[in-house]
Amino acid sequence: MLRRLHAEQPESFAFTPANQAWAEAQITKYPEGRQASAIIPILWRAQEQEGWLSRPAIEYVAEMLGMAYIRALEVASFYFMFQLQPVGSVAHIQICGTTSCMICGAEDLVAVCKNKIAANAHQLSDDGKFSWEEVECLGACANAPMAQIGKDYYEDLTAERMGEIIDELGAGKVPVPGPQNDRYAAEPSGGLTSLKDHEAGKNPHNASAALAVALGETVKRIDGTEVPLTTPWLGAGTETAKPKAKKAKKEAVAEPAIGADDLKKLSGVGPKLEQKLHDAGVTTFAQIAAWTPDDVAAMDEKLSFKGRIDRDGWIAQAKKLSDEGAT
Ligand code: FES
Repeated sequence: MLRRLHAEQPESFAFTPANQAWAEAQITKYPEGRQASAIIPILWRAQEQEGWLSRPAIEYVAEMLGMAYIRALEVASFYFMFQLQPVGSVAHIQICGTTSCMICGAEDLVAVCKNKIAANAHQLSDDGKFSWEEVECLGACANAPMAQIGKDYYEDLTAERMGEIIDELGAGKVPVPGPQNDRYAAEPSGGLTSLKDHEAGKNPHNASAALAVALGETVKRIDGTEVPLTTPWLGAGTETAKPKAKKAKKEAVAEPAIGADDLKKLSGVGPKLEQKLHDAGVTTFAQIAAWTPDDVAAMDEKLSFKGRIDRDGWIAQAKKLSDEGAT
């Protein structure tokens, strides 16, 4: 299937303030020079906010991560989980069409979607509320046939129940996810012989369905205010202010000394690492090119990351850059 940017694009994209703080916090999980590693969660958050990934959204994320636009587009167009065209304003329905589901009636579910939503996958319904597509196995084969709607799974579906679910969603309700045939989870059709607590009414829904009911966000667009942002990797704090503090620090970084090389040209060195190198008295490629194994060990210690200098080949890179500078 060809995956291309949609013909009609919005003028611009921006994260909500809470989603922006969330995205900036994700970037802090990765070392300097490796910010691009955050691309999938941040593209995903953009999609959770808008429902799909527009070109301005992809460009916005690329800019946040200091990446070329084409690199971000490569990621967005490679993974089928990213929607490159508008989806229904209420729900995008993903019908599993792989073996178990196909044998158990996926084609009937697709027929319902064609009838109630639109004749073709990825086409919006006339009222713009729904869209659908057929996807590969979603890993709930024991509850075939099934569909993912928004963030949750609807399992043990029939064509009739699929139609009802679409109608309920259209009326502003969110049907309880999970098995739709009174099965509790994925137990045998003959019933359970153990772990039967729920039969006494203690747990009316299995854990996944119970969580979906508790969160109540199955088909909601995510603006970032639903769950407080926690950043445990930044310390004990759970505030969103930490990434902003990092920005302020960045602005305060001193200008390099006259005659210093731009050490950020070394792959793996970002502004923060460059500053640490300056603090250690290292400002030129020639200095790095002349490092002995003892120097590398000492610098590994100072910069608090073992093996990175060898792994990223700083000395070879520095020699090349130093020679280029000399000529
Ligand atoms: S075949 Fe449908 S979930 Fe696996």
